[in-house]
Amino acid sequence: MFMKKHDLVYLTEDASHDAAIEIINEEAFGPGRFARAAARIREQGPHDLSLSFVCTDDGETIASVRMTPVLAGSIKGHLLGPLAVRPSHKNRGIGRELVRIAVEAARRKGSECVILVGDPPYYQPLGFEKVAYGALTFPGPVDPNRVLVVPMADNVHAGLKGDIHWRE
Ligand SMILES: CC(C)(COP(=O)(O)OP(=O)(O)OC[C@H]1O[C@@H](n2cnc3c(N)ncnc32)[C@H](O)[C@@H]1OP(=O)(O)O)[C@@H](O)C(=O)NCCC(=O)NCCS
Repeated sequence: MFMKKHDLVYLTEDASHDAAIEIINEEAFGPGRFARAAARIREQGPHDLSLSFVCTDDGETIASVRMTPVLAGSIKGHLLGPLAVRPSHKNRGIGRELVRIAVEAARRKGSECVILVGDPPYYQPLGFEKVAYGALTFPGPVDPNRVLVVPMADNVHAGLKGDIHWRE
């Protein structure tokens, strides 16, 4: 009997992944996903393909993480998200690995922080810390308890004060 082995590969995102990523995000977040405050930032400009990654299984795209350049207060960082893994592939460490790869890539590029809106119990073990309650103003409502950051420069927490928006 021939048993197909899972063949997971992590790749930098390119345009050929667009259609699959759209389906993965629709499946994970549904039609309300464009109303979320983080999505409003992502509408302000393109994400950075060089810091965005997919996971493929036997050539099929099954997970995605995107990174968008932002100015958060006075800090030049990157907004992580959406992060989504197809239900068939959950709980195998793929989400965690995509976050790790994206954060390390941003660090290598000189980013000052990686910021996101997400569940603290999932992201805190991956190096994320809470941003001071209400310090950042998003272009839409967010739960201040879910605004998290990996600081990658000096005094990042002090600089995370004011608006967050897309940057060049
Ligand atoms: C959240 C998501 C990206 C996790 O991806 P994944 O590849 O399944 O996660 P991993 O395998 O790396 O980690 C799984 C672990 O995280 C835990 N976990 C998953 N979602 C969690 C959450 N919201 N809060 C706390 N823990 C969570 C799992 O219980 C599991 O724990 P275990 O290792 O103790 O069994 C994926 O479930 C998904 O796409 N969900 C829908 C979209 C979404 O919510 N994205 C995150 C937006 S903030």
